[in-house]
Amino acid sequence: MERTLIICKPDAVQRRLVGRILSRFEDKGLNMIGLKMITITPELAKKHYAEHAEKKWYPGLEGFITSSPVVVGLIEGVDAIALVRKMLGATNGRNAEPGTIRGDFSSSQQMNLVHASASAEDAAREIDIFFGESEIQAYEPAIMPSLYASDEL
Ligand code: CDP
Ligand code: MG
Repeated sequence: MERTLIICKPDAVQRRLVGRILSRFEDKGLNMIGLKMITITPELAKKHYAEHAEKKWYPGLEGFITSSPVVVGLIEGVDAIALVRKMLGATNGRNAEPGTIRGDFSSSQQMNLVHASASAEDAAREIDIFFGESEIQAYEPAIMPSLYASDEL
């Protein structure tokens, strides 16, 4: 089991796509164990996007990600980190394959609707930034036996 962080970015909230985006993860059988609406501050943006903070396009990204509320989620599942990234598609919505979230709903490099952790190291760091222990609702889904064979767990 892996945990990964997702952020439905300001464009997803403004475009009323949060429900449809979260539905995709639910439909896939992933387990949502944390969810909240927040507004990202410039300080938080710099921390979360530390790897990009020196890039020339970072000011635009910071302006965008702090522009209005986001919905942050914690998702759990077998191979969840790579699986959720695959479900997002390529960074630029114009290059993302149809069938992916970005491929189906985004035509922008910046306004690509959803963030998801890229590696186990990033997931651990990002979950720690956005979720306190008391905000994580770890539970065993009752339908678990219908989601995975026992040797997959
Ligand atoms: O989100 P992902 O890991 O796919 O892409 P990234 O290369 O780590 O970039 C982080 C985010 O910065 C992207 O999701 C875009 O929202 C934004 N971005 C941007 O505004 N301009 C760029 N030239 C590249 C990325
Ligand atoms: Mg990235």
